[in-house]
Amino acid sequence: MKKIMDMQAAGNLIADYPGIPLGEPERQLAFMDKCRELVKQKEEAAGRPMTAAVINFGCQMNARDAEKLRGILKKIGYIITEEETADFVLYNTCTVRDNANQKVYGRLGYQKSFKKQNPEMTVALCGCMMQEPEVIEKIKKSYRFVDIIFGTHNVYKLAELLYAHLTSKSMIIDIWKDTTMSVETLPVDRKYSFKSGVNIMYGCNNFCSYCIVPYVRGRERSRTPEEILAECRRLADEGIVEVMLLGQNVNSYGKNLENPISFAELLKEIEKIDGIKRIRFMTSHPKDLSDELIQTMKESKKICRHLHLPLQSGSSRVLKEMNRRYDKEKYLALAAKIRQEIPDISLTTDIIVGFPGETEEDFEETLDVVRKVRYDSAFTFIYSKRTGTPAAAMENQIPDEVSKERFGRLLDLVQQIAAEECGRLTGQTEEVLVETTSNHEGMVSGRLSNNTVVHLPGTEAMIGTFVRVRLDEAKGFYYIGTPVEE
Ligand code: SAH
Ligand code: SF4
Ligand code: F3S
Repeated sequence: MKKIMDMQAAGNLIADYPGIPLGEPERQLAFMDKCRELVKQKEEAAGRPMTAAVINFGCQMNARDAEKLRGILKKIGYIITEEETADFVLYNTCTVRDNANQKVYGRLGYQKSFKKQNPEMTVALCGCMMQEPEVIEKIKKSYRFVDIIFGTHNVYKLAELLYAHLTSKSMIIDIWKDTTMSVETLPVDRKYSFKSGVNIMYGCNNFCSYCIVPYVRGRERSRTPEEILAECRRLADEGIVEVMLLGQNVNSYGKNLENPISFAELLKEIEKIDGIKRIRFMTSHPKDLSDELIQTMKESKKICRHLHLPLQSGSSRVLKEMNRRYDKEKYLALAAKIRQEIPDISLTTDIIVGFPGETEEDFEETLDVVRKVRYDSAFTFIYSKRTGTPAAAMENQIPDEVSKERFGRLLDLVQQIAAEECGRLTGQTEEVLVETTSNHEGMVSGRLSNNTVVHLPGTEAMIGTFVRVRLDEAKGFYYIGTPVEE
């Protein structure tokens, strides 16, 4: 039976690799070269190039990690594909709700049969779900064909772990509880040539009572402004025009740095970078959203007219149980202030229904906030019990039928309002950043500053460019438009 090598127990295996530097990123670059040699041998044996796929399940943070993982695999010599029958398949998992979890087990079921057909293939798992000890136990027991498992804190180590696997044929497990390291300078394979995510902070300290993220992503840590600005400048030099600043709670950015700086101050510095034309960020926790940020957005030419402001619930009682640290009145006042200062802003949100103890009255409060704030769109979720979170131990878990019924009503309301709101720019001419060719021949798709999608006639050559577009017709969640010469 395949051996298991736990890197934490084995103490990083540093001694086993003479000549490999200890410092990062040099160490990983050396392992990439070593892996390249081994992959070359596989290519020669098979008489074809080796392929790799990174399959993503999670949020924007996970998507950003996936770009790093693909960058490393490309450097090792793999051709990147999206096929789950590739020679190297890596599942980058999410565990925020149980259905994200179940999806991964479903896919592993398929992998078992692929691997039977191609025993040379390598299957790896990483991401948030791997930070849960029960998950690791289950994989060790029931999915022994998996070759490499790592977590959220050591994504940069992929080449080292792959090398350990290829040379030992063991199941390699390397899960860290937390880290103070950040290695952001390894190769990255970006999905888009014109926009990029930029991590400004890691982890979360908020411990909302339903949420597993603080347990799987660790404590909140901000990157220094110098590092972030250097990365943004580098991206601008490479032709990136839009950056999306990523953090679980960007509004608390910088508070714990040696030289504290506010998120608004960081935005002002990024604004000064010439090539960057659009700045987005995600996610804003309502409890920390400052007047300084609202003013900075109002005065900015580059910060997009979009704010994602997760509500979670409209009931002050439920919000308290959720440990969100704002109530219904405070949220509504904040939304009103933002709309007053920045009238063309588009507000979007996340909402959970069926939190333990949620009554019909509580749920009505949520509908009331949705009616009052009038979101451009909202992600709605049925509460999912996450092991180890305080809410999982609460009594009064809501029966599925009740949650589903409420979820349906919420979705109807959200969609009706979104369709009404989306149309408000019809007839106006706005700037669109073209992102992709569309499914319809001769059409391309892009986004407005407020994040709404626009389809317009065009060609692939327009991808990554800004076009002035007359918004002819609103179709629920998107516009059909015509480019205009001005
Ligand atoms: N840091 C962000 C949210 C990240 S998780 C914030 O605080 O706004 C993304 C969304 O998943 C959350 O906003 C929440 O709506 C949802 N979510 C988190 N845990 C959940 C759970 N246990 N059940 C259902 N939805 C959940
Ligand atoms: Fe989860 Fe709350 Fe942190 Fe968001 S702020 S990641 S919902 S604990
Ligand atoms: Fe999921 Fe992890 Fe993001 S749990 S939502 S991938 S931080």
